[in-house]
Amino acid sequence: MEISGQLAVVTGGGSGLGAATARHLAQAGARVAILDFDTERAEAVAAEINGRALRVDVGDAAAVGAAMAEVAQMGPLRVAVNCAGIATAARVVGRDGMPSTEVFERVIRVNLIGTFNVMSHAVAQMKALDVMASGERGVIVNTSSAAWQDGQIGQASYAASKGGVAAMCLPVARDLARDAIRCVAIAPGLFRTPMMEALPEETTRAITANIPFPARLGDPAEFALMVGQIVENPYLNGTTIRLDGATRLPPR
Ligand SMILES: NC(=O)c1ccc[n+]([C@@H]2O[C@H](COP(=O)([O-])OP(=O)(O)OC[C@H]3O[C@@H](n4cnc5c(N)ncnc54)[C@H](O)[C@@H]3O)[C@@H](O)[C@H]2O)c1
Repeated sequence: MEISGQLAVVTGGGSGLGAATARHLAQAGARVAILDFDTERAEAVAAEINGRALRVDVGDAAAVGAAMAEVAQMGPLRVAVNCAGIATAARVVGRDGMPSTEVFERVIRVNLIGTFNVMSHAVAQMKALDVMASGERGVIVNTSSAAWQDGQIGQASYAASKGGVAAMCLPVARDLARDAIRCVAIAPGLFRTPMMEALPEETTRAITANIPFPARLGDPAEFALMVGQIVENPYLNGTTIRLDGATRLPPR
């Protein structure tokens, strides 16, 4: 699908990988609606790219429905990119001897259910559109993580949420095939974003030392490039692509 002229929604577009994606799509000629919890940062990116910012908690299905109804007013939605996410870490049982159920539920709610909420509302809009010259109606890009395959200590909830994003990619692609809508997931390694900067320095150092080539953290622009390539390549569908410089995350 050609990016130019399309309407795209990017969740988590106020920061990191989502912000880079919003900028990339806008630069390629798309109009972009940013859905983010953080109004201030989302509005700053939206102002920069002449887009629109909508405040929403992606884990709240009703709020997503309301925000997506506003997106529908902007025109035919062809691209939906889910980048909103949290990486709260917790061992299964904490130092206090208590199960970390609350963290588990919150991370699944935002990363997995939030992705489903936005994706399903985007699909509802795409299904009603005409097929474009490329033969497609729309494309969904979801963000998994390398942790879906090599989750680290403290990442049971995060890996489960990102494993869910990766696992649903094929059934969603199969489900949407009759509607000519593709679904692809990206599983990033470690990228230089505010989320990554929140990790303990020791963890970042250990992960960076483990990246074969290029031996550095990923640049959010490289993630955005991948999103653009997925949108443009009509034969990419139903798969999760690792984008990680061949790294495999160590236990800690
Ligand atoms: N940075 C990395 O190394 C890395 C690696 C693998 C996967 N990821 C995934 O990529 C995505 C983007 O990560 P990032 O590094 O850019 O993080 P980030 O913290 O820089 O940005 C995340 C954005 O999501 C928004 N957000 C968080 N919870 C939300 C909610 N409930 N509703 C709406 N918006 C919400 C935040 O306000 C923020 O703007 C996440 O899903 C993350 O899990 C990141």
